[in-house]
Amino acid sequence: MRCMFLAIVLGVLSCSSEKTAVSNDAAAQTATTVPASPIERCINLGSALEAPNEGEWGYTIRAVDMQRIADAGFDTVRIPIKWSAHTENVPPYTIDRSFMARIDDVLTAALMADLQVIINVHHYDELNAKLTPHKERLYAMWDQIAYHYQDVGDRLIFEVLNEPHSKMTFEEVDTVNRRVLDRIRQVSPDRWVIYATGQWANPIGLYKSKPYLAPRTILSFHYYGPFEFTHQGATWTEKPYPIGVSWGTPEQYATIEKDFATVRAKMAPYGLPIFLGEFGAYDPAPAFERAKWTEHVRKTAEANGFSWCHWSYTSGFEVFSKKDQAWIPEMKDALITPFRR
Ligand code: GLC
Repeated sequence: MRCMFLAIVLGVLSCSSEKTAVSNDAAAQTATTVPASPIERCINLGSALEAPNEGEWGYTIRAVDMQRIADAGFDTVRIPIKWSAHTENVPPYTIDRSFMARIDDVLTAALMADLQVIINVHHYDELNAKLTPHKERLYAMWDQIAYHYQDVGDRLIFEVLNEPHSKMTFEEVDTVNRRVLDRIRQVSPDRWVIYATGQWANPIGLYKSKPYLAPRTILSFHYYGPFEFTHQGATWTEKPYPIGVSWGTPEQYATIEKDFATVRAKMAPYGLPIFLGEFGAYDPAPAFERAKWTEHVRKTAEANGFSWCHWSYTSGFEVFSKKDQAWIPEMKDALITPFRR
């Protein structure tokens, strides 16, 4: 019933972008034209549905956020979701209905604000630790998610898995991408799908991948370099990174440019759009340098033809201050060039 409602309300919001024929043959391996990405300027709604329970990490998504984000000039929100905390542990691995209903509400709010939405499988820690039975459980999750949203238009985008690592080797990531894509394609032949990237979505994960060339697929990587700057004061990293670290020498600017040019050059033969799905500096970084780093990463992504998604919106890696309930002007300007408003 709920899905039917979503289909009726949201089906009309479907956009029809050109389909691009990509095949896995040798010619495609030397493709020079890259199909346009449906995403341009995106923001991650982190700290909400990526927590074991929404609200536990200090943020619960509100409809008003979606309108505010759209009004600021973003076209897409990426919503990290910890499905694994709301899915049965035994076959058929059913997703909790009330959790799915909450995701329906969040999607409805975003699509009604005229935003595109990326949903992913985030923080599937058990899968990274143990492939059996978790690969099967992941496939079962995607079967249910794809089926549930099959009638929602293609402004809803799926992303296979966030930051796989450990047991999820480069080969496993390629296998899982292909298997999940096949399952999504059973019910949604036209939906855009963002592939997972190994080694925590590090560019190395891209270089080691052999992405399956299919229409409407997107490559993705995350960028947090230098980590001691972007993660200063973080409490969840393997080792602590002390606060007070600066950024902004000419060499540091150049490193970002070199890193992104390498991603572009190395992945160009695949002819797929590239999405910088996460980049951000944690709140304790010096404010001015944090904004400068953000602006430089964003502009360098654009210069290389990558669409991007800032990590995050509020409650850590803030662009919108939780305390003041207002945009942080220099952070917003770092992402959305003022003349665009
Ligand atoms: C990854 C993690 C997220 C974290 C972010 C920055 O996306 O899943 O929880 O906040 O990276 O470290």
